[in-house]
Amino acid sequence: MAQAKKNVVLSGMRPTGPLHLGHLAGALPNWLKLQEKYDCFYTIVTWHALSSEYMNSQSIRHNTFEVAVDWLSIGLDPQKSVLFVQSEVKEHAELHLLLSMIIPLPWLQRVPTFKEMQRNIPDKDLNTYGFLGYPVLQTADILIYKANLVPVGEDQAYHLELAREIARRFNRIFQPVFPEPQMLLTEVPKLAGTDGRKMSKSFGNAIYLKDPPEVIRQKISTMVTDTRRKRRTDPGVPEDCPVFTLHKAFVSKEKRDELAKGCQTASIGCLDCKKVVIEALIERLTPYWEKRRAYEQHPQDVWDILEEGNKKARAVAQKTMDEVRQAIGF
Ligand code: TRP
Ligand code: SF4
Repeated sequence: MAQAKKNVVLSGMRPTGPLHLGHLAGALPNWLKLQEKYDCFYTIVTWHALSSEYMNSQSIRHNTFEVAVDWLSIGLDPQKSVLFVQSEVKEHAELHLLLSMIIPLPWLQRVPTFKEMQRNIPDKDLNTYGFLGYPVLQTADILIYKANLVPVGEDQAYHLELAREIARRFNRIFQPVFPEPQMLLTEVPKLAGTDGRKMSKSFGNAIYLKDPPEVIRQKISTMVTDTRRKRRTDPGVPEDCPVFTLHKAFVSKEKRDELAKGCQTASIGCLDCKKVVIEALIERLTPYWEKRRAYEQHPQDVWDILEEGNKKARAVAQKTMDEVRQAIGF
């Protein structure tokens, strides 16, 4: 009997810098779980990075390496998942082009992230053809592997809805080629950065996986806490404390409840409380740091692993593109 076909998972990250604790609390554990069960494709989306970083294009290659090392060191396994670089699989660009022919312009003009990003990042000119097509390229990434599951955060919901609409439209106009991809919502706990705002690379407040233990210690020791605790004797409210968002992600509930009580009754100091999450992170990241050191010493191994992934991805993408061209009548 033919084996039931496994679900195909695809997701991607833009190579704009090393990964931080937000990724460790959200996407990464989810991706690790999925690779045990499904056929997973994880891609470093260099062209998506270029759509906003074209004035800084030289950074993309290095950041591709950074993301790849982060992925491998945290446990994404090239024996289980296809880890690859988007711009090394040129078929994505061809599908992007073909899809662009059938997408009504208003579908793209009403994408909330298109206007939002332009407003949020006024120092970059994002009013470009390429940036308008960002969700089309993302759709090509997904459809070219006939992925049916796409693990992403809430912020990608609109892009996924669009990918589904585009798949339907292609199937209707030409021939049914693509399954409609389902969004697999990743619960990302809200993590605060060192200044108390949302942790984000662009705010300069992030704690990176690759930060050495002494840097993690220093960043968390000086991180802002609940403002009510001006003195050691002032009770605090953990729910209002940026540091406690880290406890929620990385410290066991039991230990965390005990610290919360200590905070509310001023029986512990903030430094005592911070120490617990610092030690939890160091324990969690130690195996990752060891693997990272090995990859950093052998950078060519990392590029070779990616090239293996590129080859596997290409084979699947080429097969889909044969079907796509045939459906169109080329
Ligand atoms: N737009 C996604 C993000 O910013 C990255 C991405 C590109 C992606 N292509 C994808 C995510 C395909 C999932 C599937 O996070
Ligand atoms: Fe935050 Fe902990 Fe200090 Fe309370 S004791 S304010 S939870 S760091």
